[in-house]
Amino acid sequence: MTTSFAPRIFSGIQPSGGLTLGNYLGALKRFAEYQGQGAETIYCVVDLHAITVWQDPEKLRHNTREVAAAFMASGVDPEVSVLFNQSQVSQHAELAWLFNTVARVGWMYRMTQFKDKAGKNSENSSLGLLAYPSLMAADILAYHATEVPVGEDQKQHLELTRDIAAKFNHDYGVDFFPITKPMIEGTATRVMSLRDGSKKMSKSDPSDATRINLTDDADAIAQKIRKARTDADPLPGSMEGLQDRPEAKNLVNIFAALTGESADQVLARFEGQGFGAFKPALAEVAVESLAPITEKMTRFMADPAEIDRIMGRGADQAAAIAQPIVERTKEIMGMIRSR
Ligand code: AMP
Ligand code: TRP
Repeated sequence: MTTSFAPRIFSGIQPSGGLTLGNYLGALKRFAEYQGQGAETIYCVVDLHAITVWQDPEKLRHNTREVAAAFMASGVDPEVSVLFNQSQVSQHAELAWLFNTVARVGWMYRMTQFKDKAGKNSENSSLGLLAYPSLMAADILAYHATEVPVGEDQKQHLELTRDIAAKFNHDYGVDFFPITKPMIEGTATRVMSLRDGSKKMSKSDPSDATRINLTDDADAIAQKIRKARTDADPLPGSMEGLQDRPEAKNLVNIFAALTGESADQVLARFEGQGFGAFKPALAEVAVESLAPITEKMTRFMADPAEIDRIMGRGADQAAAIAQPIVERTKEIMGMIRSR
């Protein structure tokens, strides 16, 4: 028997520092677009994930509110989506523990994000950093989410979520957890560094010139694009011609994701032109799309109490969905419920 699950989208973003254009195009912009398309949408600021590497408590509070503000500024409407903060819904941590007994240690050591973040001295990383994907599976499966929009870098974690769901279902002879579908879609599933086309644009890169932050003003955005690494060749008429030009490819993909065109459509307009013409045009669309978001974020951040109120209400809505699912999980595993 295969249970059918109602379409439900879940995704999360860590409050572990400023957000980048990669987070916006690979995640936030799409989160807003999925609203009202037939699936319920649930979005979460995942602070329990952020603390797998040490966070300054005061900064964590600031960053948590800032990510909440970024969700709303990007068009996630708390009247339409459930928007909340992970640590306020205790079912995430509870289900993660149950999944820690289902997942295997070897699965965790294989995760490339763990290897990257743990670095050479992995014995000294937190146990939470190793178990991170188990918590991520709990985030998703506590809601029986069927689809998860993320950037390319999260693909391996989502495969592990599917493995945990399948092993749980198998070990307990049930068909209780859905096998979640990753949604890695669009032209910006992997926005690259402005300085090195082989590296992901990341909030943790030591050089600020590699990324556009959602808090950058128009001048900073224009300057970073002007200084972005490129080559001296003119642009070809289609993406096939950019195969060995990672930096050029990245800028064209960013342009396309910002305007909602395909990369080939963008190239059709710029064919034969150099970066002297392309970069100012890109800076203009980037500023035009990001300035209103930055402005809205600033407005939300001016009223932290209102953000907290919205996130508190979201947490109540989230807990109402997750609580019966986690209760049922415990029952399936043999735990007694006497109150
Ligand atoms: P994080 O900031 O690591 O919590 O990531 C939040 C979301 O943004 C995830 O869905 C990531 O896959 C996505 N993301 C982060 N960096 C990039 C990037 N450079 N390109 C595309 N998506 C990204
Ligand atoms: N691991 C994700 C990242 O680093 C964040 C995340 C945590 C997440 N839980 C999730 C994403 C659940 C999607 C679904 O980007």
